[in-house]
Amino acid sequence: MSDIKPEDDVLRVVGGKPLSGQIKVRGAKNFVSKAMVAALLAPGTSVLKNVPEIRDVRVVSDLLRLHGVNVTFDGDRGIVTIDASHVDLADVADVDTLAGSSRIPILFSGPLLHRLGEAFIPSLGGCRIGDRPIDFHLETLRRLGATVNKEHADGIHITAPDGLHGAKIHLPYPSVGATEQTLLAAVLADGKTELSGAAIEPEIMDLICVLQKMGAIISVDVDRTIRIEGVEKLKGYEHTALTDRIEAASWASAALATRGDIFVKGATQPEMMTFLNVFRKIGGEFEVRDDGIRFWHPGGDLKPVAIETDVHPGFMTDWQQPLVVALTQANGLSIVHETVYENRFGFTKPLVQMGATIQLYRECLGSLPCRFQQRNFEHSAVIFGPTPLTGQDIDVPDLRGGFSHLIAALAASGPSTVHGISLIDRGYADFRGKLRALGAEIE
Ligand code: EPU
Repeated sequence: MSDIKPEDDVLRVVGGKPLSGQIKVRGAKNFVSKAMVAALLAPGTSVLKNVPEIRDVRVVSDLLRLHGVNVTFDGDRGIVTIDASHVDLADVADVDTLAGSSRIPILFSGPLLHRLGEAFIPSLGGCRIGDRPIDFHLETLRRLGATVNKEHADGIHITAPDGLHGAKIHLPYPSVGATEQTLLAAVLADGKTELSGAAIEPEIMDLICVLQKMGAIISVDVDRTIRIEGVEKLKGYEHTALTDRIEAASWASAALATRGDIFVKGATQPEMMTFLNVFRKIGGEFEVRDDGIRFWHPGGDLKPVAIETDVHPGFMTDWQQPLVVALTQANGLSIVHETVYENRFGFTKPLVQMGATIQLYRECLGSLPCRFQQRNFEHSAVIFGPTPLTGQDIDVPDLRGGFSHLIAALAASGPSTVHGISLIDRGYADFRGKLRALGAEIE
């Protein structure tokens, strides 16, 4: 966003010091934004607690305001209050300017169709919001009775003047966003909806809890089928967001990579079980306490692992990047097979420049069925360690890749300059303050 000062966008890091101390992690970015959109469904006031001060929360707040909704955020206490008594159609150009490359606007579709009978999703340049990355979303909306018109130059116009109705929907892949799309659109639809092949991430379960508090009827079967019985109206909710398990795992990986000791206040065990198993296999130690989890490097050598990213309850794709930095310090060959995104290893190139030995492969180096088999994507990585890292000039590529670079700079000997650092503000609240609290030498 344009309000970033150039001096806030560069971080100088002197690495080589273990990170040690305590930091607090608040609610999950990938839940909070959806819960804020859910508030649009009810003509009343909703209160969301444990909300982190991250840029994505500001963006969703501003998107809601563009739709005539009243939003206040008490950042110190982490409480967002949303009064959606009144909802208007926003100007599509304003939505686009605000949302940038975010896919959140597509999730406004269901609530806006229920409240206004129409929704407009921006589409500048075509490919960014082309049919492929949101094809499941659009198909879901069509099956629920919406008409999707892609003829407009500046966006997708979606209408449902007679309302949405229940439908049988199957997702070709358990997409998090498309599952949320179905939930947000079907809760107020006329009749029953059956969604098979759904994603069941903890953030989705928490969204279902929010919707249930609002008055929805939703059940989840063991075979990833979600059943939604449409109701006539919903009311505002009060809810405390589940902790951000991606941020918690990022700090855990930072502890491992820098041979440090970090207590992550707020981290919870059930959502992190798969990560904790891998953390232990590598040789990391952790202790689950009532108010958080302590992660530390016990000294000696770390061990290599073979992991495959997957949908829940598998190993999250978003955990992969920070952990790869720690794996550069493990003794032997580690393998990471990325099965969720076809192109999520670009961040390894700067790591190689810093001294890591990482080889990428187009082949599936694992046993999980993978959509990228026999295709031209470098989606498997072999990491050979331990390799000393040395400080470099780094450009942040994306949110998780960026945080990984930061960890690498902190683990490296000598100074690094990390450019484009404000991208990390999208999902890591006050990470500069937290790094200082952990003893990092940053400027
Ligand atoms: N996909 C399609 N068509 C669709 C939707 C998805 O082909 O219509 C594909 C995607 O291209 C991808 C796969 O399905 O290969 C999974 O995508 P999914 O829809 O599950 O992801 P998402 O909802 O767009 C959320 C998180 C991501 C996280 C993924 C997977 C938010 C805002 N984002 O994305 O988080 O990686 O689920 O867990 O909730 C992050 O926090 O840095 C981040 C990228």
